[in-house]
Amino acid sequence: MEKRGAVAEPQPEHVEKKNVIPLLTPFKMGPFHLSHRILLAPLTRQRSYNNVPQPHAILYYSQRTTKGGFLIAEATGVSDTAQGYPQTPGIWNKEQVEAWKPIVDAVHAKGGIFFCQIWHVGRVSNQDFQPNSQAPISSSDKSLVSQANGVDIGQFTPPRRLRTDEIPQIVNDFRVAARNAIEAGFDGVEIHGAHGYLIDQFLKDQINDRTDQYGGSLEKRCRFAQEIVEAIANEIGADRVGIRLSPFANYMESGDSNPEALGLYMAESLNKYWEDGNKAVAEGYADLVVYWSNILGESGFA
Ligand SMILES: Cc1cc2nc3c(=O)[nH]c(=O)nc-3n(C[C@H](O)[C@H](O)[C@H](O)COP(=O)(O)O)c2cc1C
Repeated sequence: MEKRGAVAEPQPEHVEKKNVIPLLTPFKMGPFHLSHRILLAPLTRQRSYNNVPQPHAILYYSQRTTKGGFLIAEATGVSDTAQGYPQTPGIWNKEQVEAWKPIVDAVHAKGGIFFCQIWHVGRVSNQDFQPNSQAPISSSDKSLVSQANGVDIGQFTPPRRLRTDEIPQIVNDFRVAARNAIEAGFDGVEIHGAHGYLIDQFLKDQINDRTDQYGGSLEKRCRFAQEIVEAIANEIGADRVGIRLSPFANYMESGDSNPEALGLYMAESLNKYWEDGNKAVAEGYADLVVYWSNILGESGFA
């Protein structure tokens, strides 16, 4: 045991290195300087009454902020057809954008970097969440069977397959939501492309049974996700855009017969937006791991 009052000896370099905790080392993520590598994963809270974020979220998110820490907000709807759970926030109208502002300001006041996760649930919904009680939209008209969603038993209304000519409007909803997120003060967005929600309903061959240019081959199933990434990258800059993918997950009946090919194809096609992408993949660097993990978050930056 060290004697009281003893002065610490200067440590040789190799000893200091041994004591470094990798999770607490800084990381440069595009234009953002993270002071450590522990992120707040997006976590749905269901406390945004009438789809409007509430003032108590100021406390919730600022409690979870550290200087230089990276936070991803809970999944946030891109349009009035995007919801499938009670009281989840949106970012498609002015009231929602204004309500997010003080929450984002509080995170920034503590030095945090804050992305909004933008979301459309697709068929993981029922008509009670939909305008005019219409059917939820999806890549397909295949129904989900009712299942426990962690809170209660979800009851799903059979979805309506989007017509080809409607798809640009949904891509546009994502683009506008990303623009709104920047307007609200967020530093960027993470597109929710995982967990059986709308984008995953296009990516996965267990669900997508389309015969147009958005279904069939792997390339065609990935087109919807790619068009969303492209639209948002053009709108707010590629270094402010991430996408969460879960090729190996089959949550909400969203399995794929070849998840490795799907994950690789998406990762490779997204690299063109990301300056150091090829280098990172070639070096087996962190983002390859996050693309592929089905245990940890699968966020990757485009
Ligand atoms: C209550 C709850 C809400 C979640 N909400 C979201 C969400 O909104 N968006 C998302 O991409 N993942 C969501 N997830 C998944 C988490 O981001 C995370 O990947 C998952 O909890 C696994 O990490 P863990 O083992 O640390 O819990 C949620 C998970 C839980 C438990």
